[in-house]
Amino acid sequence: MKKITKAVFPVAGLGSRFLPATKAQPKEMLPIVDKPLIQYAVEEAVAAGIDEMIFITGRNKRAIEDHFDKAYELESELEAAGKEQLLEFVRNVIPKHITCIYIRQSAPLGLGHAVLCARPVVGNEPFAVLLADDFMDTAPGRKPVLAQMTDIYGYEKCSILAVQDVARADTRHYGIVSASSYRADLELVSGIVEKPQPDEAPSTLAVVGRYVLSPKIFDYLQHLGSGAGGEIQLTDGIAALMAAERVLAYRYAGQRYDCGSKLGYLKAMTAMGLKHPETGEGYRAFLEQMHLGAEAK
Ligand code: G1P
Repeated sequence: MKKITKAVFPVAGLGSRFLPATKAQPKEMLPIVDKPLIQYAVEEAVAAGIDEMIFITGRNKRAIEDHFDKAYELESELEAAGKEQLLEFVRNVIPKHITCIYIRQSAPLGLGHAVLCARPVVGNEPFAVLLADDFMDTAPGRKPVLAQMTDIYGYEKCSILAVQDVARADTRHYGIVSASSYRADLELVSGIVEKPQPDEAPSTLAVVGRYVLSPKIFDYLQHLGSGAGGEIQLTDGIAALMAAERVLAYRYAGQRYDCGSKLGYLKAMTAMGLKHPETGEGYRAFLEQMHLGAEAK
């Protein structure tokens, strides 16, 4: 298999858990401090050496295309006003060598279908999939999560799923794998099932939104019927792929925030707000003040 140069971002979902905030804007454009979720995901792909970003979009997703496009009016206004730093932010949303491709998923048929929509562009190469609402904060001293995975791909040359342990009560929110230990941080996947009930889950090892996939997955996705929730599931495609090729589960180093949920989103905002050079100090003081206030009650 070749080097990974393409990343797929399925961004057609409705974001109904964030209504009314997502009524007229995509959930992937929700900001963590000052950058939208989708930009963090793209930056993670860039850090993994990927230079072709493939967005699987749907209705109401124009803002994502606009975000990664040149903003002529805004740039000339910032330039005229001498706002150099803001101009740099706007110009550097995406490095110059990156190509963005947008494919429209005509109907919301599921994550597996969204990934299949990328086939004409991905072709016969291994590729990455990033779910932008799984926000991944990099562990101190480590590479970002996707770069850890592409490094592993470099010597294992097979599909890799990012996984983490979850509470048994939460298995119904994730793809859950059965796996046996393979080497440090890596497990050999022997089964995968989408959103099992806690009493039916084969383990508590959950797939989170980072994948490195072999192009063979497309052959299986193409022939899949609908699975859990009546949707064409990526998980079912991986289950079929596993019978033909090795699939590894990787316990990544990093902190995941589920920004598909309000609580996860608030936690991500807090973590990044504390780290941000502009807000960190003031935000820490504010949180301490709130904490003291709560203790006094
Ligand atoms: C999707 C996948 C699921 C995975 C999850 C990670 O589910 O179908 O297997 O565990 O992402 O966030 P979703 O959260 O889109 O329903």
